[in-house]
Amino acid sequence: MSIIVSAPGKLVLLGEHAVVHGQPCLVTSVSQRLYLHAVPIESPELIVEAPQLHVSVYRKPLAELGEGAVPKAMAFIEHAVRRVCFERPHIGVHIRTHSEFSAQYGFGSSSAAAVCAVAAMQQLYGNPLDLNRVFETAYGTVRDVQKTGSGVDIAAATYGGTLVYEAGGRRLEPIAFPLAELIVGYSGVKADTVTILNEVADRARRYPDVLSSIYALMGQLVRRYVDDAATLSIAEVGELMNLNQGLLEALDVSSTRLSAMVHAARAAGAYGAKLSGAGRGDCMLALAANRSRADVEEAITTAGGEVPAVRLGVEGVRTEASHPAFV
Ligand code: PMV
Repeated sequence: MSIIVSAPGKLVLLGEHAVVHGQPCLVTSVSQRLYLHAVPIESPELIVEAPQLHVSVYRKPLAELGEGAVPKAMAFIEHAVRRVCFERPHIGVHIRTHSEFSAQYGFGSSSAAAVCAVAAMQQLYGNPLDLNRVFETAYGTVRDVQKTGSGVDIAAATYGGTLVYEAGGRRLEPIAFPLAELIVGYSGVKADTVTILNEVADRARRYPDVLSSIYALMGQLVRRYVDDAATLSIAEVGELMNLNQGLLEALDVSSTRLSAMVHAARAAGAYGAKLSGAGRGDCMLALAANRSRADVEEAITTAGGEVPAVRLGVEGVRTEASHPAFV
């Protein structure tokens, strides 16, 4: 018996960082998926082959999962399996992964891998796929590994679509967003979420009132979108993105490259543009009318970015009949 599951990546539309501090955010899933193949094995151990993470073969007894040095690339899968394997402590699992997107993009491949590992193990143990349990367990995994984080990547990978989200899944509601008008720009720089979150946390210790005010303002932008989604013009949605970028600049999580891409997109006719995710690298988003799309894409590229072809708001974690990577 073997199981193949897949889960999408994500992009934060509004409210990153503030979501770690109790505010709502908007997130959407990205068409590129992480695939995971799991087979039960007789020895009580975890075996992982993840060539795109530069892990040819990784092995660890189930009883030792989470203990000792855990390589960064393996941490999410190892902790996810640790959280579920107690149900069948004598059955090991051999996992292989295949990613349609580079871990560089910041689409959240580690979170997608954690979601897939939990979803696959659930089914290997004979249980139906239970999205709420997948979310809870995979969110616990993020907390095990990072000690911080809102779980927004986990929510997008699990439920898919576009969501209003609050940390820990306190709020998880589908919402419409003009996804067809979004353009994604990759900065070419890999960002390390935990390092940036720690830097911001350090600044928050020195300027607690300032940072909590910035988070509150970010939350207001998200609430404004959620309350008025049906009536906001696309230009107003762009304006909310620009305001959000200004607040992210105030947190000092943009970068010369990201800010250049954002300003180039606006100058080329985008209604709005902002970085997406933790910042310093990874991706930015621009919102543009169809007639400006080509100009905005060119401006982002000229500013040093790359425009990957993506579809947004796709289905969350699902079981696959087969995948060519696993034949
Ligand atoms: O992992 P990233 O870079 O997409 O960041 C996710 C959004 C943050 O709000 C910065 C972190 C979090 O856990 O919510």
